[in-house]
Amino acid sequence: MGTQTVVILDFGSQYTQLIARRIREQSVFSVVLPCTAPLSEVQAHQPIGLVLSGGPSSVYDADAPAADPRVLSLGVPVLGICYGLQFIVHHLGGKVRPAPKHEYGHAEVLLEDRSTGQGRPTQLFAGLPPSIHVWMSHGDEALELPTGFRRTAGTANALAGIASEERRIWAVQFHPEVHHTPLGAQIIKNFLFEICGARGDWTPAHFIESTVAQVREKVGAGHVICGLSGGVDSSVAAMLVHRAIGSRLTCIFVNNGVLRKNEFHSVQENLRGKLGLNIVAVNAAARFLEKLAGVTDPEIKRKRIGAEFIAVFEEEAQRIAQQTGGVDWLVQGTLYPDVIESSSVKGPSQTIKSHHNVGGLPERMKLKLIEPLRDLFKDEVRRIGRDLGMPEEILSRQPFPGPGLAVRILGEVTPERVALLQEADEIVVAEIKAAGLYNKIWQSFAVLLPVMSVGVMGDQRTYAYTAAVRAVYSEDGMTADWAQLPYDVLQRISSRIVNEVRGINRVVYDITSKPPGTIEWE
Ligand code: XMP
Repeated sequence: MGTQTVVILDFGSQYTQLIARRIREQSVFSVVLPCTAPLSEVQAHQPIGLVLSGGPSSVYDADAPAADPRVLSLGVPVLGICYGLQFIVHHLGGKVRPAPKHEYGHAEVLLEDRSTGQGRPTQLFAGLPPSIHVWMSHGDEALELPTGFRRTAGTANALAGIASEERRIWAVQFHPEVHHTPLGAQIIKNFLFEICGARGDWTPAHFIESTVAQVREKVGAGHVICGLSGGVDSSVAAMLVHRAIGSRLTCIFVNNGVLRKNEFHSVQENLRGKLGLNIVAVNAAARFLEKLAGVTDPEIKRKRIGAEFIAVFEEEAQRIAQQTGGVDWLVQGTLYPDVIESSSVKGPSQTIKSHHNVGGLPERMKLKLIEPLRDLFKDEVRRIGRDLGMPEEILSRQPFPGPGLAVRILGEVTPERVALLQEADEIVVAEIKAAGLYNKIWQSFAVLLPVMSVGVMGDQRTYAYTAAVRAVYSEDGMTADWAQLPYDVLQRISSRIVNEVRGINRVVYDITSKPPGTIEWE
């Protein structure tokens, strides 16, 4: 049996990949195509269903994005979302106009069904209560419905759903794909299983298979390099490419002097030793620490580390190119949230990612990019890594910033301070793991403060540094809550750090959320 595919036509919504994700969550395969995809391309996928995404435009704008209207008459079930609904109405002979009242944000929707007059929900709303909480974001509304359509849902202000079983078209004005529509997943499930007849037998193994095939085809006989950070994203991306082209992938892993304790060694052991990746490990710690000497400004630290990283990476890449007769491709572990972040208005998030993405290098070295995880979210990448047989130690690793411990050492970064923080950090992580909290917490780590205070150990007066402990819950790192760690865990962390790390005699706990704080201290 072939893979059942749902085709999502993208009209430029920021939520389109979320629709794809919701569909994957139901173990159904989906592809996202631009709305302008030719009809033949849509048909080539032999879709069991079509989803028309939302989008920022108005259907009556001169340059409104449009799909070939014949997609509405293929006989394949269609689900229109927001702009998708308006596109359907507009192209099948109804009327859309600017709404007198815009609807943005939370709303209550009454699921009605005017066809039976009995308030019986359509198949799309099967199993849902008569009223649901939704996320709306539109300024237009459908005024007149095309022939054969009826209204299936509404808010206090406007129409919120339409359907025509005869034409096999269903549409909603709200966004079932976002988590602000808590029962939205049920609507998507209904579309897939009640309406499209999906089997729900798609697995990450299928993703791996098709990605590996695509990479093989793309790369041909070429050579590929990849910058490994030791984190989940770059490791999984590298593994996928490795599966496709084996030793023609060379990974570069740089010790920038501000990695965690033993990390330079353990990443190599895991990825080269256990998984067979071809890794060039470059111990450039001394070079980086030299560049950091005397620097206290957080942004200068970041910039120096970023520039040095690119310099080291470029040198290695050139060496590899000489050995292999040329390098054509660069693998990056870019995830969908990174794509969104870097396409958004310029803000701090731009700076955050610049280091990650070996900025400027692909252009300078004329490298083409392979980004096999571009459509995925973090938890999906972990699932794929599991399927690839990667160790949990890598897959469940908490995020770690590119500039590493440098942004957790306030003031100057010196080899002595790095060593102190590595010890304290190891204790925090070990105790959080021992308490069974590591996978529940977004990030947990120690910060070294340039604050000396007086203490007493045995009969000795001490005068030493302060460590701050930080642990936060977060969905995506954009906002975060400080974690209410159990007192006994805090107590073990504190007493171990003070007893075991000579040079730190005081431990404090950071109880600041983001905003107004940030997760990292610098
Ligand atoms: P903040 O501190 O801005 O961090 O609340 C949000 C998330 O981003 C990580 N982070 C970085 N990652 N380079 C990176 O690759 C950076 O310069 C950087 N600064 C912060 C941070 O660990 C958290 O997950």
